[in-house]
Amino acid sequence: MRILSGIQPSGVLHIGNYFGMMRPAIALQSEGEAFYFIADYHALTSLKNPEALRENSRRVALDFLACGLDPERAALFRQSDVPQVTELAWILSTVTPMGLLERAHSYKDKIARGLPASAGLFSYPVLMAADILIYDSDVVPVGRDQKQHIEIARDLAIKMNETFGEILKLPEPRIHATTETVPGLDGQKMSKSYGNTIDIFGPEKETRKRVLSIVTDSTPVEAPKDPEASTIFQLYSLFATPDEAAETRAAFAKGGIGYGDFKKQLFVRLWDYFEPMRKRREEILAQPDYIDEVLAHGAARANAIANEVMARVRRAVGLRG
Ligand code: TRP
Repeated sequence: MRILSGIQPSGVLHIGNYFGMMRPAIALQSEGEAFYFIADYHALTSLKNPEALRENSRRVALDFLACGLDPERAALFRQSDVPQVTELAWILSTVTPMGLLERAHSYKDKIARGLPASAGLFSYPVLMAADILIYDSDVVPVGRDQKQHIEIARDLAIKMNETFGEILKLPEPRIHATTETVPGLDGQKMSKSYGNTIDIFGPEKETRKRVLSIVTDSTPVEAPKDPEASTIFQLYSLFATPDEAAETRAAFAKGGIGYGDFKKQLFVRLWDYFEPMRKRREEILAQPDYIDEVLAHGAARANAIANEVMARVRRAVGLRG
């Protein structure tokens, strides 16, 4: 089974990225041949700062490794180290109905949030389809917000196969419900663009400050509180064991403890959870060449497969004999 996923290096990784994409991807690395990449071509649709793009890309690699990605099992690479993917995107775009892209939610959402309506942003799903199809991927672990993109990838594979014969494998999404349930500080979905994130590797003081700034209602200390409606509880459950979550749920319902105290408990839990990963991160940072070596090794593995698939595609469409 070949597993593939990508993450955009458009900013500093937060716990929404961790629970939505990174943790499931890391858990899957032992179940098959995993390919995980840093979607730097995609990040260009929103980031026009070369220093920041370079810096974020390395940082995503570092953070992913620190969180447990095992480069012996999973190939970790930069999307742009396999530039053939843009060639496949072009070929796919020639069978992509405009209407399919016009219906894509993420384009509409991004425009609504003020991103300039570039052709790259519009055809983002075509490049993403190429990312998936160029590795003959079986399974694509992503958050719910990416479901439509996987459906588009399947649609484009079907179109290609109908037009040119059976050349592309149809991928299956593996959707992780947690992305929807990782709320940000204000209770909306945690997202860099809403500025409501808690970073995975933020400094201690800043992380505590962020946790303490979670928005709550004005229920008094002594009153019972609804755990399900509370961002604090939802975040706490991501870190806690089922027993701990049950205990805290009961404590919410009972009353007598203020939100401030629950926030402190959440901070402690969160900080402890990432402690071993912070250690690992320091170890990686002490080996200056390690990240480049991992990315080079990953790129070599990715290129080997992409070259095979592209040879098949070029032949099928008539670009080569
Ligand atoms: N669009 C994805 C996101 O923003 C990132 C991504 C790019 C991706 N290409 C991919 C994810 C291919 C899975 C497969 O989260």
